[in-house]
Amino acid sequence: MKQVLIDCDPGIDDALAIVLAHGSPALEIVGITTVGGNVPLERTTGNALALREYLGFPKIPVVPGCAGPLLRAPIDAADVHGHSGLGDARLPPPALPPSPGHAVDHIVDTLRGAPGEITLVAIGPLTNVALAVRREPRVVEWARELVILGGSWTRGNKTPAAEFNMAADPEAAAIVFAAGWTVTMIGLDVTRSALATGAVVDRMRTMGPLGADLLVPCVESYGMVTADEGPAVHDACAVAYLIDPSLVRVEPAVVEIETAGRLTSGMSVVDFDLAGRTPNALVGTSLDAPRFWELVLATYAEVAAG
Ligand code: BDR
Ligand code: CA
Repeated sequence: MKQVLIDCDPGIDDALAIVLAHGSPALEIVGITTVGGNVPLERTTGNALALREYLGFPKIPVVPGCAGPLLRAPIDAADVHGHSGLGDARLPPPALPPSPGHAVDHIVDTLRGAPGEITLVAIGPLTNVALAVRREPRVVEWARELVILGGSWTRGNKTPAAEFNMAADPEAAAIVFAAGWTVTMIGLDVTRSALATGAVVDRMRTMGPLGADLLVPCVESYGMVTADEGPAVHDACAVAYLIDPSLVRVEPAVVEIETAGRLTSGMSVVDFDLAGRTPNALVGTSLDAPRFWELVLATYAEVAAG
């Protein structure tokens, strides 16, 4: 079983990723750290706490981190995720508070406590992870693996060039990619195949309260669902990769993040040709969508069955 520390900004697809991680027998969530991103930090933290209690793992720490990017003014994605961050889903308000401390310290301490054992999966802007690297450069050795949801080697979603998590804090992303570990980058090129179509939502409708309270309202408020189309459940792809790496084809590359571009700020510049350079990333290039949904829906059904 892989132990995973999830850094996130829930976020509809973050929520879908957390349900997947919670339900998978291949993963054990050892902590959740939050960052401001899709909605402000107070709400991403509140949503993580609400999910923790709704799903029933109240003893796992939820630790808030950075409210905004390293250098820039915050941007958000409330237009996509709703004011609450969880679209039309309505979970009971959490009874328990977050853990004391700061996400950056929690990341450093968790990785230090079990060198080589903990996988860090970052599905929001990379502010907390960058500061963890800056505070303690040895985290790059201690992490078993870093998998991020972000970037793209074709086109963006926040801007034509940049994916949201990279656009939100390009300086942080640049620090993370330059830190000396191999970053597994699951980006839009992969996630755009993971569409929650009508058939997917129909399966979610059979999942009792989990479907009715969380999955269906999340997906239906995330994007238009038709027979062939639906919103891409980005963050869930990073977690699915951890559960079954054969779902995503990855290729070695050198990835650098543009921080100075007038039109390209936050762009992940991906060089697959390498030309003698040592790769710093494994970049997702395609997803086996039918097998992805088989895994995700079977795992959700297990969670729904309790
Ligand atoms: C990423 O941006 C956020 O809005 C999502 O939660 C996901 O992490 C996709 O570009
Ligand atoms: Ca996210």
